[in-house]
Amino acid sequence: MKRLPPRTLRGQLTVGLVALLAVACLAVGITTALALRGFLMGRLDEQLSASGGRFAASLEHEAKPDADNRPDTRGQADATFGARLLDDTVTRAAAVVDDATDRPLQLTPEDHRTLAGIPVDGSGHSIRLSGLGKYRVTAVRGDDQDTLITGLPLHPVEETVHRLEAVEAVLFGAALVATGIAGAVWVRISLRPLQKVTARAAEVAELPLASGEVAMPGPLPDTDHRTEVGQVGTALNHMLGHVEDALTRRHASEERLRHFAADASHELRTPVANIRGHAELALRHRGPVPTEVRHALERIGSESQRMTRLVDDLLLLARLDAGRPLEHEPVDLTLLILNATDDARAAGPGHNWLLDLPEEPVTVTGDAHRLQQAIGNLLANARTHTPPGTDVTISLTTGESGVQVDVSDNGPGIPDEFQPEVFGRFVRADRARSRSTGSTGLGLAIVHAVITAHGGTATLTSRPGRTTFHLALPN
Ligand SMILES: Nc1ncnc2c1ncn2[C@@H]1O[C@H](COP(=O)(O)OP(=O)(O)O)[C@@H](O)[C@H]1O
Ligand SMILES: [Mg+2]
Repeated sequence: MKRLPPRTLRGQLTVGLVALLAVACLAVGITTALALRGFLMGRLDEQLSASGGRFAASLEHEAKPDADNRPDTRGQADATFGARLLDDTVTRAAAVVDDATDRPLQLTPEDHRTLAGIPVDGSGHSIRLSGLGKYRVTAVRGDDQDTLITGLPLHPVEETVHRLEAVEAVLFGAALVATGIAGAVWVRISLRPLQKVTARAAEVAELPLASGEVAMPGPLPDTDHRTEVGQVGTALNHMLGHVEDALTRRHASEERLRHFAADASHELRTPVANIRGHAELALRHRGPVPTEVRHALERIGSESQRMTRLVDDLLLLARLDAGRPLEHEPVDLTLLILNATDDARAAGPGHNWLLDLPEEPVTVTGDAHRLQQAIGNLLANARTHTPPGTDVTISLTTGESGVQVDVSDNGPGIPDEFQPEVFGRFVRADRARSRSTGSTGLGLAIVHAVITAHGGTATLTSRPGRTTFHLALPN
């Protein structure tokens, strides 16, 4: 499995902190180790130049038969190495051992080459000898044009540096772990206010903001604008304030519009009724009335009738929008459907009206008058928007969740692109034709509003030859 870097800000900050500290520790570790090493090497070089090749010089006398032909190890540090070269050839090499006796050294050809390669400049050089390990050596020119090499072992230096490195590794490791833990806790604490901001934003996102009065949650308390998280909180508070303000205004304007629609349609009812009354009165005039005048009066009568219907529909919609409480009484849906179908049959004798009702009468709780209007609208649509001879079936079924009324016909159907908006206001598929049939485009809007006000749903499925309006009402 591939390990991904943490995605949360908390994780990123903690990992970043630890990584930075690790880099810093590494830099400090390398620098101190190098510095210590340099310092110790310097001391070693000083020591070497102080010894001044004395040990190696004592090797010069190998040829002279002195006591037991031993180099002079007096005053030499333990493990001091000495060698004498004549014409780039090692003539003698020895090392001081604890008991102050030298051991003749077995040098490999490699060692010979190494020793011969040391520049004769009196300064320190690091070499490796097969029998002895790493050494710091200096080479000086002897009296007899020979080269005297003196060396001190490097391993005490290395050991000291390694020990420092080990101590630092333990120390820095502990510091990293401690920083990781403390950093995680610290970052968590500093980001805690962000969680509140997130929670508040999520709360607002859940709210139904589309319409109506919205209860916005209050502003976030104690946001400290000196911190970044506090600034986010303050910005959110500002935003919530603006949104709340806008929503309140929108709600007020919606309310005004609703009242206006309700008032306007209410006010229109009386003059429209008067126009209609006067037209009827004029038609009843005894004397001779010219045909054109009679015709005009009849048109006035029928148009004002249509206007009455329109105004009534608008008023009903405005009242349903305003959330006017509906009647809450038991409604015999079976009877209601029977009556509505009788009316439809009388109005549209050319259609075949079919019923599919359960044996037992079905009742729901609601507003009988409004439900009758909704079902009446569906039957009127099935009559006016399909040709004569169409079968219209009204079925009533009861289920677990409630009651379902389906009105279906085998007419031409409703075009696909028009279906999503069919329950909208003043929506008609065929505007040109619908003017003449007296349709308003409010019928299905009323169906939708009435059924929704009853806590139910109104939906449509339609294809050519099969159009069904489903009304689902809760029990
Ligand atoms: N049963 C149906 N068959 C075909 N079209 C329909 C049917 N019911 C409704 N429609 C279409 O939906 C539109 C909207 O219906 P409605 O809101 O009742 O308005 P109206 O009947 O006043 O035109 C109608 O104009 C018609 O185009
Ligand atoms: Mg209609």
